[in-house]
Amino acid sequence: MKINTIILAAGQGTRMLSELPKVLHQVNNKPLILYSIQAAKAAGSDQPIIIIGNGADAVKKTVGGGARFVLQAERLGTAHAVMVAESELKGKGDLVLVIAGDMPLLTADTLKQLVQKQSTNQGPLTMLTVHSNNPRGFGRILRGMDGEIRAIVEEAQASVDELKIDELNVGAYCFNSDWMWKALKKIKLSPKGEYYLTDLVGIAVTEGSRVDSIQLEDEDEALGVNNRIHLADAERIIRRRVNEEHMLAGVSMVDPNQVYIEEGVTIGKDTILHPGTYLTGGTRIGEGCEIGPNTIIDASTVGSHCHLLTSVIEGAEVGDNVGMGPFCHLRKGARLGNGVHMGNFGEVKDSSLAAGVKMGHFSYIGNATIGENVNIGAGTITCNFDGEHKHPTVIGADAFIGSDTMLVAPLKIGRGAKTGAGSVVTHDVPDGEVVVGVPARKLKEK
Ligand code: UD1
Ligand code: CA
Repeated sequence: MKINTIILAAGQGTRMLSELPKVLHQVNNKPLILYSIQAAKAAGSDQPIIIIGNGADAVKKTVGGGARFVLQAERLGTAHAVMVAESELKGKGDLVLVIAGDMPLLTADTLKQLVQKQSTNQGPLTMLTVHSNNPRGFGRILRGMDGEIRAIVEEAQASVDELKIDELNVGAYCFNSDWMWKALKKIKLSPKGEYYLTDLVGIAVTEGSRVDSIQLEDEDEALGVNNRIHLADAERIIRRRVNEEHMLAGVSMVDPNQVYIEEGVTIGKDTILHPGTYLTGGTRIGEGCEIGPNTIIDASTVGSHCHLLTSVIEGAEVGDNVGMGPFCHLRKGARLGNGVHMGNFGEVKDSSLAAGVKMGHFSYIGNATIGENVNIGAGTITCNFDGEHKHPTVIGADAFIGSDTMLVAPLKIGRGAKTGAGSVVTHDVPDGEVVVGVPARKLKEK
């Protein structure tokens, strides 16, 4: 069975009070529209057709290649929005799923159920409803004495009695494709001057067909983002879903409300996340780590049994048993071997620190290759930039860099070499040699 999806995303999103089209606002660092696209695809749909209007170019740009767009030049209502996709879709599939681009909580599972039900349904459509005491402006479902759906009445047109109905139209439907294209032509302009997609229900009933439905069990799924309060609600619920998945897979969170994990992050079991932890950009964390409070890890890999406290790690690789923080900053291209220790105010960029390196206090290491078990004293700086170019520093295994050493690159410090406190090293130091002073020279034995 061939399933197409139409995602309605041409509306203004007036209540967001934003320069950004509503469907590009983000929930858990992902634009709303991408949630709809992914759910539809995961439910078995072909590449969805996105109906764009307001902010069309921006939406196209964000969604990117592979997607299909149809422009609704004039916003004449939800039925009109579906109609503009006719030339693209008519005769090209069995079922059409219609959803809105501002419902990020609707799951692929729910859409699958909708498709499944409609695929065996004799009638022309299956729709999603929800029972709720919070009607939020949704259309009300009118059912007959026999319990069958008779119509949907929009809130603006509902009578006092109809307003009391607690079964609501979620705004997600699965139609028999041939029937839908024909029936859309029968819709008349509403008193508000729009063509309502919801009128298809009344049309089906008038034709003597049965309208089938699925009731959402989880009311959250029906949340549509119309203002920034809804956006924050969606954010909270999505993050809870993501966090609960990790907790059920063996990750501890001291306070899940204060842990921010993007989709696509992996975390090993027995890792503990403290409040204020942000894990983004496909970061991978091993087992048995303790992370946070207040730690940001983006696009990085962290091994097992690391303790990372109040630090920022971006585009870096961290081995096993690394201890870091508070207040360390790993930047792009930082690679830390097993058992590295970094204390307060360390910064590493484009450098590798081999296993066992200790760098306890106030250091900057850039464009450097540091051998095993090197001790980097407090205040050490690789002076890697001459104003035009970056230059490398290489430090051999077991070297001891004294406090406040300036390593003026390009520079090589030999294995087991030592620099005295406060030295400014401008020339290579051979293996085992001790240098001191400004500029640093070989220490004369007395
Ligand atoms: C719609 C339903 C209502 C349902 C509610 C659930 C209709 C007439 N009413 O109401 O029964 O309870 O959704 O959220 O369908 N759009 C376009 N082009 C248009 C008009 C709308 O693309 O010309 C898009 C909007 O961007 C939005 C979606 O369609 O994503 C829904 O439109 P909206 O005007 O918000 O409908 P509601 O009043 O919420
Ligand atoms: Ca809406």
